[in-house]
Amino acid sequence: QCRIIKDHFSVYKLPTTPLFITRDFSPDCSSVVHSQKAMTDQPQTDLGLYKPPQTVRGMTELDRAAFSQTVSVPAIRIPTIILNKVVKSLKKVALQRPGLKRVVEEHNEDGNKDSSKGEHRLLLLDPNSITSADSFGSEEAEALKAYGVAQEIQKYQLKLTYENLKSEEILRAVLPEGQDVTSGFSRVGHIAHMNLRDHQLPYRKLIGQVIIDKNPGVTCVVNKTNTIDSTYRNFQMEVLAGESNMVAKVRENGVLYEFDFSLVYWNPRLSTEHERIVSLLQRGDTVVDVFAGVGPFVIPAARRGCEVVANDLNLEYFCWLQHNAKLNKVDRKIT
Ligand SMILES: C[S@@+](CC[C@H](N)C(=O)[O-])C[C@H]1O[C@@H](n2cnc3c(N)ncnc32)[C@H](O)[C@@H]1O
Repeated sequence: QCRIIKDHFSVYKLPTTPLFITRDFSPDCSSVVHSQKAMTDQPQTDLGLYKPPQTVRGMTELDRAAFSQTVSVPAIRIPTIILNKVVKSLKKVALQRPGLKRVVEEHNEDGNKDSSKGEHRLLLLDPNSITSADSFGSEEAEALKAYGVAQEIQKYQLKLTYENLKSEEILRAVLPEGQDVTSGFSRVGHIAHMNLRDHQLPYRKLIGQVIIDKNPGVTCVVNKTNTIDSTYRNFQMEVLAGESNMVAKVRENGVLYEFDFSLVYWNPRLSTEHERIVSLLQRGDTVVDVFAGVGPFVIPAARRGCEVVANDLNLEYFCWLQHNAKLNKVDRKIT
């Protein structure tokens, strides 16, 4: 008896109850492997204000200091004593940017903090919403009137640095104009796995470094350099930035896996499929996984109380499978 569960994963239930998990290596299997998000699909908000200097265009070695610039933003002067209330009322038109302070101290003409002005603070406003004193909506204008705050706008010179920019803004400014900019990647533990296009290759080291800088926890970025191997389903890769340690630790559906990502197949997008197939199993079932990889079916099945027989053609996978079985304390349940 055979029940097809999905086009490329099948569970075979035999009369004597063992369950076999197999994988059909149809050419379109590779379509489940990592896809990339093109930045052109993402909304281009704030690019006016947060557009880095033109001089960074074409940069191939990351020079973070070259992204610093001073931009002029509108600001409103608020007495410190009612600051919180007024800021709350102006929330919709205030400058909103993670990492940027929107309430700042006043400065005198030399650019130094002015202690005589300590009784006031400046609230920085979004230049897309507020261009003049008349730009406030009726709600904000009424609040300002009620608190006795003058509806006057002044200009504040805001220093923006590399740290204030998103990876999208950085890469869009560096890579050739009009070409797709890709910052999408698959995350496998500490490794970000990219699939760059030809026109991005001259910038690959810089792209890798930006991905590390802007994604906490990512300490290594790799790029796929060939098509997927048809038997073992792995591929060659180049380290673009960061450490060259390829041994990833991944938690999937509550199970911990370790493996050398440069040598074995692991696709984070299969997590739901692994969970779905395992949910079909019952305690006491016998499962035979003939293409077990590093164990994403086998180990959860053993944890569920199944008796498991696992196989893989490639010794590297087999060794990591054994390692993961021990790591999850189910090695006695897997043959
Ligand atoms: C796409 S991976 C899938 C691994 C795992 N099931 C997963 O979901 O991550 C396919 C696995 O089948 C193994 N394989 C390929 N041909 C095989 C064969 N003839 N016999 C046993 N294993 C094989 C490969 O080494 C690889 O580990």
